[in-house]
Amino acid sequence: MAFRMPAAVIDNGTGYTKLGFAGNTEPQFIIPSCISIKEGTNVGDQASRRVMKGVDDLDFFIGDEALNKPGYAPKYPIRHGICEDWDLMERYWEQCIFKYLRAEPEDHYFLLTEPPLNTPENREYTAEIMFESFNVPGLYIAVQAVLALAASWTSKQVGQRTLTGTVIDSGDGVTHVIPVAEGYVIGSCIKHIPIAGRDITDFILQLLRERESGIPPAQQLDTAKTIKEMFCYVCPDIAKEFSKYDADPSKWFKVFDSMNPITKKGFKVDVGYERFLGPEIFFHPEFANANFTTSISETVDDVIQNCPIDCRRPLYKNIVLSGGSTMFKDFGRRLQRDVKKTVEGRLKISEELSQGRIKPKPIDVQVITHNMQRYAVWFGGSMLASTPEFYSVCHTKKDYDEYGPSICRHNPVFGTMS
Ligand SMILES: Nc1ncnc2c1ncn2[C@@H]1O[C@H](COP(=O)(O)OP(=O)(O)OP(=O)(O)O)[C@@H](O)[C@H]1O
Ligand SMILES: [Mg+2]
Repeated sequence: MAFRMPAAVIDNGTGYTKLGFAGNTEPQFIIPSCISIKEGTNVGDQASRRVMKGVDDLDFFIGDEALNKPGYAPKYPIRHGICEDWDLMERYWEQCIFKYLRAEPEDHYFLLTEPPLNTPENREYTAEIMFESFNVPGLYIAVQAVLALAASWTSKQVGQRTLTGTVIDSGDGVTHVIPVAEGYVIGSCIKHIPIAGRDITDFILQLLRERESGIPPAQQLDTAKTIKEMFCYVCPDIAKEFSKYDADPSKWFKVFDSMNPITKKGFKVDVGYERFLGPEIFFHPEFANANFTTSISETVDDVIQNCPIDCRRPLYKNIVLSGGSTMFKDFGRRLQRDVKKTVEGRLKISEELSQGRIKPKPIDVQVITHNMQRYAVWFGGSMLASTPEFYSVCHTKKDYDEYGPSICRHNPVFGTMS
């Protein structure tokens, strides 16, 4: 086989975009999915922005550079994982490719990702931009949950590699529970949970505010987020956790040291119960949102129970975590315990109802935690796009020119054989 440049792998999330080349274990860049264009170019009005194109074609910034740029309006083209402004998306990709990856798009195959239940039309728009504006030689649009399953193979024996499992993808904006059977998402059984990273940050901020913590106002959100990422964990039992803290405060309370970037004055924040109360809202959402009371463990159990009966055992056996908000220490352990409890409770009831005549076979509940969780989707993409099989499932520029964008409506499953 002739030498081939590695494929480019881009995972555009609601909050962050992860980008890099296939074969690496980590994305080269993780940047906010934010683009800033000059104010006055009629932001929000797609038609007039198109007319302006070419005039100030390069007058925009993406990622960290796009945040807080005076005179520029920050926009997030992706909402709930789905692109809502193709014009901005094209420009965003343009800088991802030329400014960040520093690649010639003609030289690389591309793997992009999509959320569950993305529409075939969106795949066509993506293909049009990739093949016509950037001239890429090949394109594959992968379902994020399937890539997350593949990423969890790093923690398993080769013989156990499977594309059947329940993926819990929790990023910044929303948490999805997605059942996947043999590489195909069981779309009708997906559930969303309105609790993710941003909600935990907000909840922590609320707790900090109640104690009047002396954080400069402009710094509050960032501080809460950093505290969350540095200090939070999931505990087995909140009542016990409170007493642990009260019995030995010096061991459990932490101090977060920071500086006001404007006045350069330092400030300190005491971090206490929020360390375990923050992520607890996954299990007790009513702490933060009175309208929502279903815990993540109940949702996971519900999703699996709604699936066809012959999938349920493998779905319980392979519950895979993906996304930044699954990174809390012991998140997987607590989830496994709670789901197990529900499942075993149900088996016990059926045994009792049959007065002991039926002895149900125990169900194996396993939540898989692994090192690549933070960027599981990107890592799964990087791994699959570095196999020779990838090139055989990609849509090529040649096929695109011959048959048109509709060929990209479907992307065949691959990776199940390895
Ligand atoms: N170590 C950590 N502990 C807890 N939370 C973390 C950690 N690292 C990152 N996060 C949180 O994860 C979230 C970002 O996750 P991720 O990059 O998976 O989201 P996304 O893909 O942009 O969004 P989405 O999946 O909703 O489209 C942020 O809320 C961030 O604060
Ligand atoms: Mg994501």
